[in-house]
Amino acid sequence: MRENDAVETPVLAVDHAAKIFPGNVVALADATLSIRPGEVHCLLGANGAGKSTLLKIIAGAHLPTKGSLVLDGVPQRFRNPLEAARAGISMIYQELDLVGSLSVAQNMLLGRVPSRWGLVDRKHRAQIAAEALEKVGAGFGLDVPVASLSIANQQLTAIARALTLDAKIIIMDEPSAALNETELERVFAVIRSLTARGIAILYVSHRMGEIRAIGDRVTALRGGRTVDTFPVAGTSDQTLVEAVLGRNQALLERSARAPCGDTVALSAPFLKGPHGLEIRDLSVREGEIIGLSGLNGSGRTSLLRVLFGDLPSTGDILLNGRPYKPKQPADAIARGVGLVPEDRKMHGLVLDQAIYRNAALPSLRRRRFISHDSLRRGSARVLGDLSTRFSAIDQPVRQLSGGNQQKVVFSKWVLNGSRVLLLDEPSRGLDVGAKAELYALIRRLAEQGAAILVASSELDEIYANCDRIWVFHEGRNVRCFDPTVASRDDILTAGLIGHRDASEIAP
Ligand SMILES: Nc1ncnc2c1ncn2[C@@H]1O[C@H](COP(=O)(O)OP(=O)(O)OP(=O)(O)O)[C@@H](O)[C@H]1O
Ligand SMILES: [Mg+2]
Repeated sequence: MRENDAVETPVLAVDHAAKIFPGNVVALADATLSIRPGEVHCLLGANGAGKSTLLKIIAGAHLPTKGSLVLDGVPQRFRNPLEAARAGISMIYQELDLVGSLSVAQNMLLGRVPSRWGLVDRKHRAQIAAEALEKVGAGFGLDVPVASLSIANQQLTAIARALTLDAKIIIMDEPSAALNETELERVFAVIRSLTARGIAILYVSHRMGEIRAIGDRVTALRGGRTVDTFPVAGTSDQTLVEAVLGRNQALLERSARAPCGDTVALSAPFLKGPHGLEIRDLSVREGEIIGLSGLNGSGRTSLLRVLFGDLPSTGDILLNGRPYKPKQPADAIARGVGLVPEDRKMHGLVLDQAIYRNAALPSLRRRRFISHDSLRRGSARVLGDLSTRFSAIDQPVRQLSGGNQQKVVFSKWVLNGSRVLLLDEPSRGLDVGAKAELYALIRRLAEQGAAILVASSELDEIYANCDRIWVFHEGRNVRCFDPTVASRDDILTAGLIGHRDASEIAP
């Protein structure tokens, strides 16, 4: 028997659930879980462990191959998400499922438009949507198209949508992956008000700090099986990491790095771009890893897209000493510049194509005659370095877990032999072990001479792995830090205050 199950009747009990996909792909082998009313139940597991699969079974998006699901004492067999929603289970997907061209209000009530005399009741719809948006503290209107919102605000829309349902259980699959600390605090406040009303939350995250901040209990999954359920208080990080990885894993620590040379790979003395982007004196040398820190919307993504030719700019950029004016991504790729975008679903992958074809996309674009066997071998090697979990290199990317898709995006640019790598939140959705592997690979690429710019909202990561850290504020690069001497607090403060000159900050 798991910890204290007898204490209270669970709102949901999943017993020995399994999901096997055609071709005998075991996505979930044997998962058992019970959720109490009003608790935040976290789910922890490595990339590909089966978390999203388990959640989709609970939310009616997958029929389980084996096992049972009991909601409030009544056995259930949901055939689709609508049935689960009607029974009180609402899910916020890892890959958000909003329709970009529709408005916030339309998205929130998609599929269950309130009607009066059979017509769409716009007023009623607006009212329900507005109330839910207010609860999540959204600062945007009901009528804007979802595509125009940042990922963070799209996430808030999805949470608000879950609130418009009368849910007993709200499932959140890695909500924090797209949120900064302030936004996450807001989501946590929403979660606390929901649990106070007896609503249970099932919450997936790879970050231990979050599980500690919000979780009551945590269930660990490894290789598609439940390891155990633990109370969050009184269980050490060590115990949890061992439960999911089956081994000890050093958490992120700063490792010594060889100093890089003096050859400047890319420099932008002055640059202006959309959304108020204004860059001064930014440069990156061969072999150097530069971190970009700052709040969401501070200009990091805009800069990376400008450098990739994905957004227009004015000003000067030099690449390997020659003028560089990319008008489209193809210009950037031709000059050896690669981008791992923030939103892998929109820019990074062709989901229905084979893994190796995705990994080889930029190389295919450059060289028309290339053997597919060597592409298969090359991508398998890079993906192996990152311990990517897949069943065949010809499998469509859509079938991979979220974290493993991210590894495919990264491998594209490694295979392409990019000399300048622009990485926007590259570790988003990776488990602790995979994160460490990703940064080890980034460091290896730098040692081979690649120049790397990496934007991350997780300061710990860039603090441990970068040679220099530029802090962004309202579109400008305001201060540069040497992480071997600056403290984490200095860097965080600079991101919040945002002065360009250190002397402007009062002691
Ligand atoms: N539709 C599918 N067809 C085939 N295999 C699938 C399908 N969906 C998931 N899988 C496989 O099942 C395994 C579990 O995937 P799942 O998405 O549940 O992992 P996860 O724990 O959510 O990982 P992550 O932390 O990376 O999001 C993976 O190996 C994945 O490739
Ligand atoms: Mg997942």
